[in-house]
Amino acid sequence: MKLAILGPLSRNYEEIRLLEEGKKLFDTVSYFPIPQVVIETNGKGSELTFKNKKLINYDVILPRIPRTYKNFGTSIIEALYASGKSLPLEPWSIIASHNKFLTLVRLAEKGIPVPETHLSLKRSVLESVFDDMTYPLVLKLLYGSKGVGVMFADSKQSAISIMDALERFDEPMFVESFIPPGNEDIRAYVIGNKVVASMKRVAHEEERRANIGMGGEGFPYKLTTEEKKLAIKSAKAMGTQICGVDIMSSPDGPVIIETNVNAQFQGIEKATKKNIAKKILTYVKGRVHEK
Ligand SMILES: Nc1ncnc2c1ncn2[C@@H]1O[C@H](COP(=O)(O)OP(=O)(O)O)[C@@H](O)[C@H]1O
Ligand SMILES: [Mg+2]
Repeated sequence: MKLAILGPLSRNYEEIRLLEEGKKLFDTVSYFPIPQVVIETNGKGSELTFKNKKLINYDVILPRIPRTYKNFGTSIIEALYASGKSLPLEPWSIIASHNKFLTLVRLAEKGIPVPETHLSLKRSVLESVFDDMTYPLVLKLLYGSKGVGVMFADSKQSAISIMDALERFDEPMFVESFIPPGNEDIRAYVIGNKVVASMKRVAHEEERRANIGMGGEGFPYKLTTEEKKLAIKSAKAMGTQICGVDIMSSPDGPVIIETNVNAQFQGIEKATKKNIAKKILTYVKGRVHEK
């Protein structure tokens, strides 16, 4: 059986691990760097090539599409679907999951609890919102990751000064209610209909963001039944079968703050000692046999 991994030009831990485990589970493994792929469409259909290799000839295609390639990546996935390939994510899920506000809109539509959020292009429009919200509040860029792009304002004055800077850069402004107690969150790694690993991340003592890249530490954590159900439901709502779901425990119950369509797994492999790369590949391989 032939596996193709479609990913960024310079391979991260995840792509390296998937290639390593892929070689144990598949007869042939090829890496397709997204910026070097050509999509060709004619009256007969679409074809994707990298050098002289045709993506269509692979039994399993595993896309790893970072935010920088969200538009081109969506075109690739659409073209593959049009050619009859089965993939572990829907084309729209790339755009929706990389955009934090769109994610919350989709989740809320399915009845999944999310923080109260307000999106606007102008600070002036949001001033009345600042009067009604409780502090601290959270300000986010639509396209941040690894904690970069998440800001906290302890007063209306701080919120306004951050907003002024964002307006200068023409960045849409996204204000979110703070989920107490803060400083920690839960990451659930969903594959298919299962949570295969989960950890609690605790922020570094001088930090509110719990991301491991921000100095946070990961510990194995057993999800409650409700958290597990919400994680699986969130991945489904976002049209992706492989998904990192971020959960915060509020006094009123679990709240989903984001989903990651291109979730990293170095931190969760380390914290839980689980082989996520193997679990992903076993899952995608199993789906070929299902057909
Ligand atoms: N509404 C919130 N209330 C309190 N803390 C938050 C909130 N949203 C995010 N955080 C903190 O900031 C971190 C990063 O936020 P997140 O939305 O997951 O962005 P990223 O994509 O950068 O990981 C979270 O892990 C959490 O610790
Ligand atoms: Mg996150």
